[in-house]
Amino acid sequence: MSAAVRFYSRSGNTKKVAEYIADAIGAKAVSVDSSEAAINEKVDVLFIGGALYAYGIDEKLKNYLESLSADKVGKAVVFSTSWLSKHALDLIKKSLTEKGIKVETETLYFKSKAVDKASAEAASFAKKFV
Ligand SMILES: Cc1cc2nc3c(=O)[nH]c(=O)nc-3n(C[C@H](O)[C@H](O)[C@H](O)COP(=O)(O)O)c2cc1C
Repeated sequence: MSAAVRFYSRSGNTKKVAEYIADAIGAKAVSVDSSEAAINEKVDVLFIGGALYAYGIDEKLKNYLESLSADKVGKAVVFSTSWLSKHALDLIKKSLTEKGIKVETETLYFKSKAVDKASAEAASFAKKFV
């Protein structure tokens, strides 16, 4: 089963979670603004994460979600970090659904202050889908 990990992170918290996931499944965590971010070959599972900034997600992540195509993604699994709110999960899920991409109902979320200790939980979450 093929998998990819994409994220957008301004200050590193969501990047850490992306890396926990990527390490657990033997993939690479790639920022959505990297030249390697495009999904050109179909993946069975796309782990996609972002954080909440003033109750919204970053434009770079919005644009990336808009660029995805349903025929290249079997299923998306969404993760996020924030101080308190899980709203980014809903925003990301909504964008994916609008693109016709199937979205896993289970999500992975950590408060920013919990990220450093989240490695084991993130790894066991990720392994369920790959
Ligand atoms: C400008 C700004 C606005 C934020 N707004 C919210 C918010 O509305 N709700 C919330 O729970 N966290 C908010 N946060 C906290 C971030 O979502 C949190 O620090 C997150 O872990 C950042 O992820 P990153 O390090 O991957 O960029 C905000 C942070 C910043 C810098």
